[in-house]
Amino acid sequence: MKVLGIETSCDETGVAVYDTDTGLRAHGLYSQIALHAEYGGVVPELASRDHVRKLLPLIRQTLVDAGMTIDELDGVAYTAGPGLVGALLVGAGVARAVAWALDLPAVAVHHMEGHLLAPLMEDDPLGRPEPPFVALLVSGGHTQLIHVEAIGRYKLLGETLDDAAGEAFDKTAKLMGLPYPGGPQLAALAEQGRPGAFRFARPMTDRPGLDFSFSGLKTQVLLAWQGSDQSEATRADIARGFEDAVVDTLAIKCQRALDEAGCDTLVVAGGVGANKRLRAKLQEMAARRGGRVSFPRPAFCTDNGAMIAYAGALRLQAGQHVDESVRVTPRWDMATLEAV
Ligand code: KG4
Ligand code: ZN
Repeated sequence: MKVLGIETSCDETGVAVYDTDTGLRAHGLYSQIALHAEYGGVVPELASRDHVRKLLPLIRQTLVDAGMTIDELDGVAYTAGPGLVGALLVGAGVARAVAWALDLPAVAVHHMEGHLLAPLMEDDPLGRPEPPFVALLVSGGHTQLIHVEAIGRYKLLGETLDDAAGEAFDKTAKLMGLPYPGGPQLAALAEQGRPGAFRFARPMTDRPGLDFSFSGLKTQVLLAWQGSDQSEATRADIARGFEDAVVDTLAIKCQRALDEAGCDTLVVAGGVGANKRLRAKLQEMAARRGGRVSFPRPAFCTDNGAMIAYAGALRLQAGQHVDESVRVTPRWDMATLEAV
C-alpha cells in the first residue's frame, strides 16, 4: 500500500510517500524558519498562507522523487492535530481533496503519534521495537512519557507541568541572545562549553513521580547569565550546564518510567530527540540496564511528512479511515485514539 503523508501542523510543510511493502519511497520538507525568524516565533496566519503556497508543489516534487504518478497512491494520511488550526486546515483540505478526487481512503493522524512511531520506520539491527515499550516524546510543544501497550494504545505516565523541553531550549537560547530558533544553536554552542563550569538543578528528580518542570531552569540560567562576564566562552559554559541539566533530568525520568512500566525498551521521538548528548546519555542508560533505546534519524526527530505517512499507513492497513468532511482537532489527547 502506497500512502501519501502530509504534515502542516506548525511551521514545516512535510510530504512523503510510504510504501508498506518497500518502506519510505521519498520525502520532502519545506521549512518556514526564515519566514518567522524576524518575529522571534511562529506567526500562525503567516504559517497557514505559506503552507498554501508550498504544499501542492511539494506533493508534485515528492511524487517525482518517488518515481510515481499520483494515481498509483492507495491512500492519503494527514496531520489533523494537535497544532495551529489554520495550518492544520491547509493540510487537511488538500489531503481530503486529493483522496476525494482519486476515490481513496484518507486517515487523520495525531501529530504526536507520528513522532512516536517514527523510530519504528528505521532499519534497526535489533529489529523494529515491538510494544509494549516506553516512549519519551520531547518536542517544542510536548514533553511526555508514554506507556505504549500496543500501537494506538497510549497511557500517559508523566508530562511537563510548564515548559516543554524544546521550549526550554528555545527560551534559554533567546535569553542569552541566540537567534531564533535557538534550541539547535544552544546545543551546538554547548559542545564548546566546559562540563561542570555551571551547574543547574535537575528539576523534580528529588521526589517520586514522572512529571517534569523546566521553567525554573530558564530562570536559573537568566540569573547566571546576568551575573556573568557575558563572554562567548561563558555563554558556551552556561549552554553546556543547561543542556546537561535537561539531559540528566530526562534520563532519570526515563529510567524511572521503564522501571514503573516493567519495560526494557525505550523509544525517543520529537525535535529534542535530535540532541546528541541526549542520544548518548540514553544509549548509555539502556546499555547499563541491558535494554535498548531507539531513535529516528535526526531529520525525522523534527516535524516531517514521513512519520505521518507511516503512522497513517498502519491505520489505513487496519481499515481505519475518516469520512469526507474536512475536520481538524487542534487539541487532541492521544489517550483517546483508537487501537490499531
Ligand atoms: O518536533 P519538533 O520539530 O516540533 C514540535 O512539534 O514542537 O520540535 C522542535 C523543537 C524545538 O523546540 C527545537 O529547539 C528542539 O525541538 N530541537 C532541539 C534540537 N533540535 C531541535 N533541542 C535540543 N537539541 C537539538 N539538537
Ligand atoms: Zn512535532
